[in-house]
Amino acid sequence: MSVPHLRLGVNIDHVATVRNARGGASPDPIRAAILAEQAGADGITAHLREDRRHITDADIDGLMAALSVPLNFEMAATDEMQKIALRHKPHAVCIVPEKREERTTEGGLEVAREENRLAHFIAPLREAGCRVSIFIAADKRQIEAAHRIGAQVIELHTGAYCDAHAEGDFATRDRELEAMREMSAFAHSLGLEVHAGHGLTYDTVQPVAAFPEVRELNIGHFLIGEAIFRGLTPAIAEMRRLMDEARA
Ligand code: PXP
Repeated sequence: MSVPHLRLGVNIDHVATVRNARGGASPDPIRAAILAEQAGADGITAHLREDRRHITDADIDGLMAALSVPLNFEMAATDEMQKIALRHKPHAVCIVPEKREERTTEGGLEVAREENRLAHFIAPLREAGCRVSIFIAADKRQIEAAHRIGAQVIELHTGAYCDAHAEGDFATRDRELEAMREMSAFAHSLGLEVHAGHGLTYDTVQPVAAFPEVRELNIGHFLIGEAIFRGLTPAIAEMRRLMDEARA
């Protein structure tokens, strides 16, 4: 059986992190996004956080103007972000949980507890033509809730799997992987498109890329870090090669 193409979304948030460390204009995340596109990224992902710690409003304006590939706009479910998304109407919106004090997006969204609010929140985004994705843990209850509120896509949070791998806790890693495998198939059976991401590296990407139901991986921090050593284009090319190898 041939499996569909696995898209690679390159998250350029951490180019902006480095830029903001000095407060100037470089390195420019828009330039990184264009380079990523030329290197074979199928889409660009950017997270406009409430505190604007990396990507800024001007970056989103710049990405919308410069990109030929789709922009996946990551945002918290707040009124402010909804207004921004409705102004830009990006190809895709990914709703993520957000806490000011966290260093990165630590867990998946609690959809089941907030079903009503989230259903109302995403409806106008869908009407505006955005493909709405919900970033969640591999948890049946959350997937069912994401389906009920009308999301077209779920993105599975691969962070716990990647952390367990990095810590050498292979029993947890394998359990997390198995949960994602089962939940990818379950979400697909409901008609949801399945994506995955967070913390993926060359060492952890292949088992996830091999799930036939997964259609897109969103990868950022590792690729931007790896770009320091080998350059952004070769860093992305190697990730693409590993994804294709796993998929074959
Ligand atoms: N997917 C989602 C929904 C995310 O929030 C993030 C981090 O912003 C990523 C993917 C990419 O994670 P990383 O930068 O660890 O590769």
